[in-house]
Amino acid sequence: MSSRASASVDLWTLELSASQLEVAGAASMLSRQERSRAARYRRTEDRRRFVVAHGLVRIVLGLYLAIAPDELVFTEGPRGKPTVSDPPRPLSYSLSHSGRRALLAVSDGAEVGVDVECASGFRFPDAALLAARSLAAEELEALARVRPNGRPRAVLQAWTRKEAALKARGDGLRADLRRFAALPRGASVGFCVYDLPLGRPYVGALASLLPVGRRRDFGASWCDWRRLRHCGRFARATRADWEVG
Ligand SMILES: CC(C)(COP(=O)(O)OP(=O)(O)OC[C@H]1O[C@@H](n2cnc3c(N)ncnc32)[C@H](O)[C@@H]1OP(=O)(O)O)[C@@H](O)C(=O)NCCC(=O)NCCS
Repeated sequence: MSSRASASVDLWTLELSASQLEVAGAASMLSRQERSRAARYRRTEDRRRFVVAHGLVRIVLGLYLAIAPDELVFTEGPRGKPTVSDPPRPLSYSLSHSGRRALLAVSDGAEVGVDVECASGFRFPDAALLAARSLAAEELEALARVRPNGRPRAVLQAWTRKEAALKARGDGLRADLRRFAALPRGASVGFCVYDLPLGRPYVGALASLLPVGRRRDFGASWCDWRRLRHCGRFARATRADWEVG
């Protein structure tokens, strides 16, 4: 963990569309375990996205750690949170998938969790059901203050905050979600929680053990990779650097 009072978090939006050849390129970087996880997906599209996401995670983390993507070794925490084994310098990351996109949060050591969901088509009664099953009293009170047609999106946003906090802690969704609240720019299960401005139809949240002092946003797709490698810089920034105050 970083000893500084605030964390620096880079947020990568990964574009998972890729040609068959590119998917094969990504697959060649994966471990046997990742390949066998990919093979368990029934839908070709899901399998391909998993492969590209994990290939891009390897590329991006490899750039931070100056390790070749296929040489990175991952281990899982007791409740399933993946980490890089023996990184040469402190680094925490968290991955979340949603359709053709994935989000990857990378921090200089403070544990992070990220979650993204696609709110398209998410309405009542599903929203009411999810709210009843997962929101704490304070969150339900905050939801009641949202105008009715904005509530389904607000429920999903609240869900991402909780999932991000639990992913930062490494717990996954085993906890009873109604027993704790995760309010925007508040603290939850010991983590600072932030809503992410992802643009419709996505909602997402980031949780960090330390308050986020600086967040930088980047975008990466498989086609970028070759360019990135040659120009020796990470990626074109999709948004300007901005401070989380
Ligand atoms: C981890 C979990 C929160 C992921 O939620 P999700 O919305 O399905 O998926 P997301 O795309 O947001 O996140 C998946 C990523 O989280 C990461 N992850 C997995 N377990 C994790 C954990 N315990 N803590 C933090 N991150 C975790 C992985 O990088 C995973 O990516 P991968 O599947 O491509 O390897 C959820 O699957 C979970 O709680 N699993 C453990 C408990 C369980 O299986 N419960 C049964 C269902 S309630």
